[in-house]
Amino acid sequence: MAKKVQKANIYVDRNIEVGQVDKRIFGSFIEHLGRAVYEGIYQPGNKFADKNGFRKDTLKLIQEIGVPVVRYPGGNFVSGFHWEDSVGPVAKRPHRIDPAWGVIETNEFGLHEFEKWAKLAKTDTMYAINLGTRGIEDAKNVIEYTNIKGGTYYSDMRIKNGAKDPFNIKLWCQGNEMDGPWQMGHLTMQEYARIANEAGKMMKWIDPGIELVACGSSNLDMPTFGKWEATVLEEGYDTIDYVSLHQYYGPDHNDWADFLAKSVHMDNFINAVVSVCDYVKAVKHSKKQINLSFDEWNVWYHSNEQDKKLEKWTTHPHQLEDVYNFADTLLVGSMMITLLRHADRVKIACLAQLVNVIAPIMTSDTGAWRQTIFFPYMQASKYGRGAVLNTVVKSAGYESKYGFAPYIDSVVIKDEEAETLTVFAVNKNMDDDFEISLDLRQFEGYKVIEHQVVTHKDLEAVNTEKKPENVKSVAVKNSKITKGELKSILPAKSWNMIRLGK
Ligand code: AHR
Repeated sequence: MAKKVQKANIYVDRNIEVGQVDKRIFGSFIEHLGRAVYEGIYQPGNKFADKNGFRKDTLKLIQEIGVPVVRYPGGNFVSGFHWEDSVGPVAKRPHRIDPAWGVIETNEFGLHEFEKWAKLAKTDTMYAINLGTRGIEDAKNVIEYTNIKGGTYYSDMRIKNGAKDPFNIKLWCQGNEMDGPWQMGHLTMQEYARIANEAGKMMKWIDPGIELVACGSSNLDMPTFGKWEATVLEEGYDTIDYVSLHQYYGPDHNDWADFLAKSVHMDNFINAVVSVCDYVKAVKHSKKQINLSFDEWNVWYHSNEQDKKLEKWTTHPHQLEDVYNFADTLLVGSMMITLLRHADRVKIACLAQLVNVIAPIMTSDTGAWRQTIFFPYMQASKYGRGAVLNTVVKSAGYESKYGFAPYIDSVVIKDEEAETLTVFAVNKNMDDDFEISLDLRQFEGYKVIEHQVVTHKDLEAVNTEKKPENVKSVAVKNSKITKGELKSILPAKSWNMIRLGK
């Protein structure tokens, strides 16, 4: 029997933009956790390590993605971290317990190593301060260390430690998930609002050129959601630039339809946080707009059981090493599309994390490989720069736990300078191909450059060290422009990137 092909329409207008894509929406995250740092980006003695101990194979894959900003050094880890432990002669750096993850941190890799690595990775730093077990004084000292030229106690310490020029870190997280009882030094919303504002105020006195991200909710289901954001913003509206959102998705009891509809939940979350930001703007009669930093997002669940068996107080064990399957590619693709569709307010987003720990890149002693979720993230980062067009999708769909989920998720990005148009689309239908139509009469002369597809017959297919290319992106000839209209076939359960240009 011939396969059914359903139809969907995508509408864009060349002049109706949601907003410019801030490249930091393609950011990622490296925490001192598991093998993210040690054995992930840094492994002296490994055959792929350079003279600094940085893994060249990992760097190559990171550069393939083009990661513009990396959040560092945590995560839960940061809420008990002493930044001073991570600078100075390595032999003198203390080994400390990290109660958040039940491990020992050796501090062999620290701030200077990270800054050196970030240069090679061609990425900027988003540095998180410890507002858990420490506070305002510590925030003041670390920014003096990183951003003041010299002639003061901490800036001279940096120079003595080998960095003549300041690191000039411009993006700072005011703690991590401080609304969560699992956080070391967890705070109430009133306590956090006060300390974050006072720390932020002082940091901006020291370097007015920085931007600050205040902790929002650790996920949409937090009991304090909404009130937390409002309280934090009411106290620190003038100091804060972005409010953070975190969200990870696990399975829905193997209900793939509900699993893939979690991007609808993410969309609801973003809309809700925008509303709270704008509520505070209104009551303050302010002209300033607070934007969003979705600085932890991903699928996360595969490693849960395996992690429970880990021995405590070891150094960089195999923690949170989720092996992603093909279904995760689809959800990560839809989440990426959701973030882009909110480019007017979501300015920063970090796929959590980057290497080995819930990550698109995995390493072993013998090499590095791409997990299934690598492809939508890489293609969006590489080709999703420009202006997001207001993309209206008319497609059949289904009622999910989170609301109506269209089978086709899509966003169209226009790069006026390069004269390209890129369509990202996910087909969530398990059985049917979809033919999408896009009116291109405003883009005369555009041709199909390429149509890349990630699909697989098995939703649970994975990439492993032995089979690193089981799930991959392939070029297809499914797209054609005739009489000013693009028609593309999106296979059942697939991620698609269609590039058009002159
Ligand atoms: O990314 C893993 C952990 O998830 C981070 O440390 C924490 O911020 C979040 O709960």
